[in-house]
Amino acid sequence: MTERLLITSGLPYANGPLHFGHLLEHVMTDLWARYQRLAGRRVLSVCGEDTHGTSIMIRARAEGRSEEQLIAEMDAAHRRDLADFGVHYDAYGSTHSPATRRRCEVVWAALRHAGLVQQREVRQLFDPEVGTFLADRFVKGTCPSCGAPDQYGDSCERCGSTYTPADLERPYSTLSGATPEYRTAPHLFVALEPLRGFLTEFSQAPGTLQPEIALFLANNFLSAPLRDWDVSRPAPYFGFEIPDAPGHYWYVWFDAPIGYLSATEEWCEAHGERFEDWWCSEDTRITHVIGKDIVYFHTLFWPAMLKVAGYGLPRRVQVHGFLTVNGEKMSKSRGTFVLARTYLDAGLDPAYLRYYFASKLGPEVHDLDLNLEELVTKVNADLIGKVVNLASRTARFVPRLCEQYPEDGGLFAAAAAQAEEIGAAYAGFESGRAMRLIMALADRANEYVAREEPWALKKEPAKLERLREVCTVALNLYRQLVVYLAPVLPKLAEQTGALLGAPIERFSDAQRPLLGVTLGEFQPLMTRVDERRIAAMLEASRPAAASAPEPTPPAAQATASPLEVEPLAPECSLEDFQKIDLRVARVLAAEAVPKADKLLQLTLGLGGDVTRQVFAGLKASYTPEQLVGRLVVVVANLAPRPMKFGLSEGMVVAAGPPGKAVKQVYLLAPDSGAQPGERVH
Ligand code: MSP
Ligand code: ZN
Repeated sequence: MTERLLITSGLPYANGPLHFGHLLEHVMTDLWARYQRLAGRRVLSVCGEDTHGTSIMIRARAEGRSEEQLIAEMDAAHRRDLADFGVHYDAYGSTHSPATRRRCEVVWAALRHAGLVQQREVRQLFDPEVGTFLADRFVKGTCPSCGAPDQYGDSCERCGSTYTPADLERPYSTLSGATPEYRTAPHLFVALEPLRGFLTEFSQAPGTLQPEIALFLANNFLSAPLRDWDVSRPAPYFGFEIPDAPGHYWYVWFDAPIGYLSATEEWCEAHGERFEDWWCSEDTRITHVIGKDIVYFHTLFWPAMLKVAGYGLPRRVQVHGFLTVNGEKMSKSRGTFVLARTYLDAGLDPAYLRYYFASKLGPEVHDLDLNLEELVTKVNADLIGKVVNLASRTARFVPRLCEQYPEDGGLFAAAAAQAEEIGAAYAGFESGRAMRLIMALADRANEYVAREEPWALKKEPAKLERLREVCTVALNLYRQLVVYLAPVLPKLAEQTGALLGAPIERFSDAQRPLLGVTLGEFQPLMTRVDERRIAAMLEASRPAAASAPEPTPPAAQATASPLEVEPLAPECSLEDFQKIDLRVARVLAAEAVPKADKLLQLTLGLGGDVTRQVFAGLKASYTPEQLVGRLVVVVANLAPRPMKFGLSEGMVVAAGPPGKAVKQVYLLAPDSGAQPGERVH
């Protein structure tokens, strides 16, 4: 049985156009899929539109049209952008499809059947005017510390203090301006704790995740009881109504990954294939490519759903970092928040960006910088200077290639021998390494041409046969490079096929020289990057530019981003650090503080009979029962602080958004074996 390969990219939200960050991911997936196809494997590349959720509902309302109209327009725009960037998906679906609804019902029934669905009341801010619950990002008000108006519900942009939406003075809903109120509504939760064994095995299996991601999950999620996942939203909500819970809708992140299944299913129906062969078969190797902001959706929730519903599990989740431009977060005011369409409209060749991304991508999770000056230099030096020039300097000199491959000092054979290593780099998402290997071969080929000087031979009638030999070698070395670059530069591969009278269809086309062919008419292959177009692109991306649509998709912030890196605090000396006495402590007792939204009162044992009372902002993240008995790390020499509810005699160490204690935080825990009272260095 030949192995099937199925690869996906994260489904772009249908509430905004594609930008460079999205393109990074699509290019990454496309390189891999194209390589595998060229290597003769059976590949299905899958993506589609993520269409549900509050942001899309709100935006459609604001624009006075239906959600369906909005998502249809985005679908068309996304597909056009992808096609114009040479990104090919075999299957491109949408979560707003009958196929997705049916699959959601199947997965839901399985979760119910497994006894994993539970109902609980959730207290949340509510906009009484619009009649909808509000995520924190839809609430603004006056900062309780400094009085700055129009601050978001979690922190003040002016003074930096952090608080909860309930602390805001004169809070208002950004949807209607109405004063929000707290209301409770029943929500449905999927229990994950019963699947902890499975999730641990899945995520820690070698090769499934990058090591840093596996470690992140082990330390942050799998070391403590897994929290239930809230998968329903009360009406009004744009999504699918839950069949056995009328008035409640599946949360957008429930149906989003199911879009992978439904897109595959639709493709199978159109192509006479069986869905089960792709999603219920050991012979299919499933790979998800995603950004670091959506890790836990793909490594905990999604595998849990697949497992319970009996579908195939991803064998690999490949996580990439975020894109920065010129060393900084993409910024509208600097013009570096660039939309795919703006790049194309500036007349820039998609091949430049594809090559640049390819040359930068490696298997690590870290962020990737798009330096526009470097893009210009790299493309001009590598693609034009080293690759395209090989053809343009030789293809016009001879009408036909020799019948026999001339002596080339072993160059062709040496380059042919690199196929495996280059292929392995593509297959391992290490296209940066592949590009370096290819450019090293290009250097050898260029040295050959410089040595043989075909332009000089051309002037001597007696040396015509030698000229033909040199051109046969140069063009074959060129073709080899283009075969190796074909996953990145499909258009150049096509043009080269036409020029040399033989299409490039396989990676193995680099193994045998092309001989005796009549050359096609020489057409310019690729031109140098025109820096003025880059400048025009940046200009058109600035907010003042009339045509620039609102680029920040509000829903992008809806998903917590566990790996988003906060800027580092200013350096501190070792001496300063050593003033902090961190200790291992055991939670002896834990109680909710009745009138506080976020506080739990903890009694910590620090060894012997030393105890500390600490008020910690853990209520949103842990129940008291989850804490009693476990080890934590505490700042033991913090000056005691009087609080409304009593004296707090320390701080427990947790990771999470600074001060935003209503959000999820993660307690740091010593490995088992550590003893209460031991110093943490
Ligand atoms: N709709 C969800 C994904 C659902 S998958 C079942 C989503 N959409 S998104 O449009 O915000 O992002 C789509 C993909 O693009 C995600 O993998 C995300 O990480 C990636 N990127 C979005 N912005 C990015 C950067 N600035 N840089 C790199 N990748 C980024 O998340
Ligand atoms: Zn403030």
